[in-house]
Amino acid sequence: MKTIIEPFRVKMIEPIRFTTEDERVALLRAAHYNLFGLASSDVIIDLLTDSGTSAMSAEQWSAMMRGDESYAGSSSYFRFLAAVRNLMPFRHIIPTHQGRAAEAILFSIVGGPGKVIPNNTHFDTTRGNIEATGATALDLMIPEASDPQNEYPFKGNMDLAKLEELLRQSSGSVPLVMLTITNNAGGGQPVSLANIKGARAICQKYKKPLFIDSCRFAENAYFIKEGEAGYSDKSVSAIVREIFSLADGMTMSAKKDAFANIGGWLALNDDGMAAAARNRLILTEGFPTYGGLAGRDLEAIAVGLKEIVEEDYLAYRIATTRYISSGLEAKGIPVVKPAGGHAVFVDAGAMLSHVPPLAYPGQAFAVWLYRLGGIRTCEIGTVMFGRQPDGTEIPATLDLVRLAMPRRVYTQSQADYIIECAGEVARRKREIRGLRIISEPPQLRHFTSQFEPL
Ligand code: F0G
Repeated sequence: MKTIIEPFRVKMIEPIRFTTEDERVALLRAAHYNLFGLASSDVIIDLLTDSGTSAMSAEQWSAMMRGDESYAGSSSYFRFLAAVRNLMPFRHIIPTHQGRAAEAILFSIVGGPGKVIPNNTHFDTTRGNIEATGATALDLMIPEASDPQNEYPFKGNMDLAKLEELLRQSSGSVPLVMLTITNNAGGGQPVSLANIKGARAICQKYKKPLFIDSCRFAENAYFIKEGEAGYSDKSVSAIVREIFSLADGMTMSAKKDAFANIGGWLALNDDGMAAAARNRLILTEGFPTYGGLAGRDLEAIAVGLKEIVEEDYLAYRIATTRYISSGLEAKGIPVVKPAGGHAVFVDAGAMLSHVPPLAYPGQAFAVWLYRLGGIRTCEIGTVMFGRQPDGTEIPATLDLVRLAMPRRVYTQSQADYIIECAGEVARRKREIRGLRIISEPPQLRHFTSQFEPL
């Protein structure tokens, strides 16, 4: 059969409360046009993030009942450890309450003024944690990544020539190299194994550790299996193991490709760095065998890691984003191509070309998609990246809106509804003006900024 169906059936439901457009106009005003300010009960389809929003399986829920809540050396920790090591064979695996806690610990050790940390593209919390130590976060994307219409299958790749140039000129200021798979901020695009191997070779030449920001490692591995020469016969698990055999460490948010609602870890091989990380962990997260998590959360992650590499699941997952992406395109909505793993990115800057970048076309699109359909999404553009450390504001390269798909949550008729609502926004685009910011915090402003329509 050609139809790719959801490889699960629904056992428990969460009712959705429907709202009217009039209600949503008032709710938007009350939230100061920042969708993070909405109550989830006022949202019909929530595509704000794929993080922590997965539906857990019956196996995960049953494992949670077994959670061992001992302070030290719980059996849940050892099950977590075995599940991580099965895919990512690092010497030290340090649980944290989520991905950014792993980042904060890592950069508290290697960051600091004068340091430069390159990545294909840093996610906002990674950048925030680096900059909070006084270090510089540098993005080294390949040129193809800035062209939303370019169909290159590995648009998440790092520009290795730029990496080598950086290390040749200022090796002393670079404590480590990061690579984000898939490249979330760059459109959810995968990184090829050839690129990871290339980054590894450069890191070895300059004696720098390579760390992988691994949130969506299984989706990335599936793209490699599908699109990189020589991998079609390998299992996703084998590809995952190959990826991590090339790295010296990883940060992970278990809220993505581990099907957990909370959790993360920092893993690495270097004993000295691991000891420093554990000392920091005890101060900020907890004892090294639970690291800010309950034993039951460690259990959910351990089972989630087995389920996430199932290929029927990944086939359905990638088919869903492709389905929505092509549905939007058929409505004349420009999207970043090819479709990403966890999300579809609408090119709102191109769609609303009459809205200038500093009037935030991405935010305007997101606000209208909520107004017309009750769908909550997230701007990834000038609101998120425009404010510079020196206080100036520069338009982002692209003004995108991310439709992030929670894992195993929405059905195909809900996908059809998303496509229909976005089509309505496109039909009424001439009515859409931009917004201006009336208040913003010093960092990560997209979460709490307040807006006013122009
Ligand atoms: N790195 C990447 C690539 C991410 O996408 C995220 C989170 C993190 C690190 C931090 O992990 O949330 O567990 O602290 N991304 C979420 C998102 C929030 O919506 O894309 P965390």
